[in-house]
Amino acid sequence: MTQSPKRYTITAALPYTNGPVHIGHLAGVYVPADIYARFQRLQGKDVAFVCGSDEHGVPITIKAKKEGITPQQVVDKYHAIIKQSFEDFGITFDNYSRTSAPIHHQTASQFFKKLYEDGKFVEEVTEQLYDEDAQQFLADRFVVGTCPKCGYEESYGDQCEQCGTSHNATDLINPKSAISGNKPVLKETKHWFLPLDKYESWLKDWIVKGHQKDWKTNVYGQCKSWIDDGLRPRAVTRDLDWGIPVPIEGAEGKVLYVWFDAPIGYISATKEWAEQQGKDWKPYWKAEDTKLLHFIGKDNIVFHCIIFPSMLKADGSYTLPDNVPANEFLNLEGNKISTSKNWAVWLHEYLEDFPNQQDVLRYVLTANAPETKDNDFTWADFQARNNNELVAVFGNFINRVVVLTHKYYNGIAPAASNLSEVDKETLKELRAYPEVIASSLERYRFREAQGKLMDLARLGNKYLADEEPWKSIKTDEERTKTVMYVALQIATALSVLSEPFLPFTSTTLKQMLGLNTAQQDDNGSTTKNLGWKDISQTEELLAPGHTINKAELLFSKIEDTQIQQQLDKLKASKKANEMTNATVTPQKETIQFDDFTKLDMRVGTIVEAEKMPKTKKLMVLKVDTGIDVRTIVSGIAESFTAEEIVGKQVTVLVNLAPRPLRGVESQGMILMTETPDGKLQFVNPDESGVTNGATIT
Ligand code: MF3
Ligand code: ZN
Repeated sequence: MTQSPKRYTITAALPYTNGPVHIGHLAGVYVPADIYARFQRLQGKDVAFVCGSDEHGVPITIKAKKEGITPQQVVDKYHAIIKQSFEDFGITFDNYSRTSAPIHHQTASQFFKKLYEDGKFVEEVTEQLYDEDAQQFLADRFVVGTCPKCGYEESYGDQCEQCGTSHNATDLINPKSAISGNKPVLKETKHWFLPLDKYESWLKDWIVKGHQKDWKTNVYGQCKSWIDDGLRPRAVTRDLDWGIPVPIEGAEGKVLYVWFDAPIGYISATKEWAEQQGKDWKPYWKAEDTKLLHFIGKDNIVFHCIIFPSMLKADGSYTLPDNVPANEFLNLEGNKISTSKNWAVWLHEYLEDFPNQQDVLRYVLTANAPETKDNDFTWADFQARNNNELVAVFGNFINRVVVLTHKYYNGIAPAASNLSEVDKETLKELRAYPEVIASSLERYRFREAQGKLMDLARLGNKYLADEEPWKSIKTDEERTKTVMYVALQIATALSVLSEPFLPFTSTTLKQMLGLNTAQQDDNGSTTKNLGWKDISQTEELLAPGHTINKAELLFSKIEDTQIQQQLDKLKASKKANEMTNATVTPQKETIQFDDFTKLDMRVGTIVEAEKMPKTKKLMVLKVDTGIDVRTIVSGIAESFTAEEIVGKQVTVLVNLAPRPLRGVESQGMILMTETPDGKLQFVNPDESGVTNGATIT
């Protein structure tokens, strides 16, 4: 890699198309990747920023089975939702493709074929796990068992979510089929393996010697530990019917392993884009002076740092990633984000609740990005960062500048006369920001970079607070003009430097300031399109005499009620989840119809209730059964108070043989059920207008 790359190929992990995307995805992968891509474009760099839907693999077939639809229907549905979410959040992929696209099938097949023909695979018949009921080989997520490395009992066949280790399904201790729960048997089948062991010493040189300094410590550390553990051949084909057919003879009914095909998706997406643009795709993947970067989450490290590079190396004609800035995980309100448990903030739902507030989420996720360790997203922090930082610092500064410029000068930017020391110092500081922010971005420190951007807004706020143009306007017009001139320079710088982080805000702000937005050509405006470096190099960012537009609110306060709503939503999904996970007792032995008719169940009303002294659970009730008013002793005192149940209609088994309980004869039984958290509940006729004595049949 040369010092100054000619072009950037930036990839973001292809999301699995078995669900929508949530804040964890955005924080870990797509926002940082987008910030980086936008930043390089603003510097005038040649960028290919690619992604797409990962549409093969076991999770998708499992989802399809569960919902009774085809895998294709699953991926069509989620591809559309995911693609829309990315667009909505301003993720500026040059191409968002999908692995079911013909160009991908073709690219992945060719890739495999070349390696096959060059003798890069080892072909081997081995025993693999097989589910005899489902008549299916089990690999990857079709099998769960105990991780041989860390002992986690729910490890998947190809990867342990607990310790991140990637292994073969046959390595699992006590494997179980995820389809039937059965214990699998071993059955012979032929597969093609990439002999990672042969790449071990090369990987050692490339990563351990070559990238110890420039890769993030979490990434480097994981890689080193895998290499030190020793690498083994890895099957790149599977006995499945969903995927890309293995393109050689004698491989009928087999497909490429999803982790073989998916990363090739980056190449296919680049090809597809280049074709649309009338460009050559090859330099983006094969030229020495291309900087290839993979943005991913930490569970993808082994695939992007060990397996995919080995594939690229085996081919021999590709460039290797310069860096793999993987993030750790984002938790939500103290718990791991989980699609299956619906413990997540879904992007499409966020937008319903916070319309047009994409930048707020982008901002908070970057401010709290799990760059070096797992981090927690909380709604309280979301609110605080919006109200105390975006509204109170950034928004407040811009609002003051724009409003005062209108108030004092009808929106026409004033000229400066004598710059004071403070003015000069402030402008000098301003000119340093592009370099300062860039230096953080080039080291993939996005939260630090965004912090610097906010420092510039703080500089603006402090400048206005110290210089007090609202006071000097009464005594010194020239001084006021100079102060407003300086403040307008800061506002202009913010409109450009905020673009990678807060793209929607940047556009609104540019419009407010009457500047060209990135999408517009020079249309006779008094300003030129400002790029990143212009902020340091242009003497006057906003020239005197230029007219600005009216103030619009960039950010608005988020109220407690909005936050409470989100917390309630999470609470509800936790509850729903507990309900579905509550263990259901197995069905009892079969009875005959006659057995049932023996039971005489009636609707009754509780007319009196009294807790039985010296007991914890018992309550003595008087119940009007329609037949009579009788005494029933019931073990409900821990769930109800006497007051709240008097007058309630309940269901009573009336012909149960009377029995004494603590000296009181109980003449029947009230039917009860229990909520997942152990609270008793009446099985009642639910206010449907039935009268006491009505029978239950
Ligand atoms: N679908 C994978 C995941 O969500 C990521 C695939 S990245 C690629 O974890 F490199 F394979 F494309
Ligand atoms: Zn493990």
